[in-house]
Amino acid sequence: MSIIRKIKDYYKNKKKRILFTTPSHSQGDFIVPNAKKLIGEQFFKADFSEIEGFDNLRNPKGIIKNLQNEISDIYNSKKTFLLTNGSTSGIITLMLAVLSENDRVLIARNCHISVYNGLVLSGAKPIWFLPEYDKEWEIYKGVKKSNIENILKKHNDIKALIITSPTYEGSFSELDKIAELCKQSNITFIVDEAHGALLNFGEFKSKPAILCGADASVQSLHKTAGAPNPCALIHISQKSRISIEKIQDTLNLINTTSPSYPLLAAIEADIKYLHSSNGRNKLSKLLNEIREFKDELPDNAEIYEGNNDPTKLLIKIKNTAAQSAANILNKRFHIEEEFSNNKSMLFITGIGTTNKKLKELNNALKAICKESIIHSNTLNSTKYILPKSIYTPKQAFQSLQKDRIDIDKSLGKTCAEIIMNYPPGIPILLPGEQIDSSIIDFIKCRTNIKQIDVIVE
Ligand SMILES: Cc1ncc(COP(=O)(O)O)c(C=O)c1O
Repeated sequence: MSIIRKIKDYYKNKKKRILFTTPSHSQGDFIVPNAKKLIGEQFFKADFSEIEGFDNLRNPKGIIKNLQNEISDIYNSKKTFLLTNGSTSGIITLMLAVLSENDRVLIARNCHISVYNGLVLSGAKPIWFLPEYDKEWEIYKGVKKSNIENILKKHNDIKALIITSPTYEGSFSELDKIAELCKQSNITFIVDEAHGALLNFGEFKSKPAILCGADASVQSLHKTAGAPNPCALIHISQKSRISIEKIQDTLNLINTTSPSYPLLAAIEADIKYLHSSNGRNKLSKLLNEIREFKDELPDNAEIYEGNNDPTKLLIKIKNTAAQSAANILNKRFHIEEEFSNNKSMLFITGIGTTNKKLKELNNALKAICKESIIHSNTLNSTKYILPKSIYTPKQAFQSLQKDRIDIDKSLGKTCAEIIMNYPPGIPILLPGEQIDSSIIDFIKCRTNIKQIDVIVE
């Protein structure tokens, strides 16, 4: 039986059970008034613990197991795990399941900060690499096989590779080729596919990672696929070398013992909808509307057309600082973008994006282009730099003493904090990395940071 059916049946049953269990709102018998006004009753009515007939996320045997199996069939995975704590928890789980203390792991530096968290917890040693950088748009492109071939030749002790595809800005990597390379080198291939949860349900330039040969992927259902924050999935591919039991054991290390039935029900509803003909038609309609949106863009606006996920609208306006354009969109048109760098603005769309919204964005862009406001873009694009590692992320995290000093006095010291802009959440400097003059320049150019925590040695 499905989770949604089970919850509905609970209320249909005339002889309702009398629960002396958590959660203490007693399925909405008492809801704090402000929460009731804002959220309504239904959420609380769907909120149960592991009562009779329901299941247990630590060792699913009933309705959760059934749903996992059903979802796994839809995705053609060996196993799919349901996550109610985001791709963040999926990435950490995969890393803890695959990596031990001091294991070498190859990571594309444009990773999400959760990968750093996984390094701290696992004690693994990162080998960072930078994918190709497009300075006209200030974005990292997807990873190519050629980006990692040489690194693999130099290191024969790499246990796993972690990349993000599609990237935050939508670039796809050469997943098939990289998967093949990893197979030959006996390297576990993990893909952060947090932004790719729609790939399974429509026509895209890339197939989902586990169907391209990755051992595992994580997908955030909330980012593009319509589920609430922070619903996500871990997929283990049919031929994966990762142990399913180890993943379950690791999830049990980091997960809450109180699974959220409203979120699990939302995952069920979301995936079944996306898989239905209604869901697939809705996605195909969205992709058509995005094509129309592109066709109707004003001449002075340009959209990124690389090997990209079309739901990510990366746009720049000729001779215009993207942040100035974004400010005008914000203030005058009340349109908020996901993120802007010096060159381009990122607008994230997803299954819930209406054509009306796309038209409003297009009209605002037309108005901006007509006025040719504009502050020309003189800012130089600065590529991220790979700092030298002095300590592993775990050693740095555990270092006992920190000092806060002016950034100008930090040359030669070891960083003790995470320096990044969020979004996009790509690390500029991590704990355990050495501060040199180029990093200081980069931090000054890209952030407002004046002081920095350093390790006292
Ligand atoms: C590339 C990438 N990976 C992982 C995550 C974490 O996803 P979640 O919010 O589902 O934990 C994010 C979130 O911004 C992301 O952008």
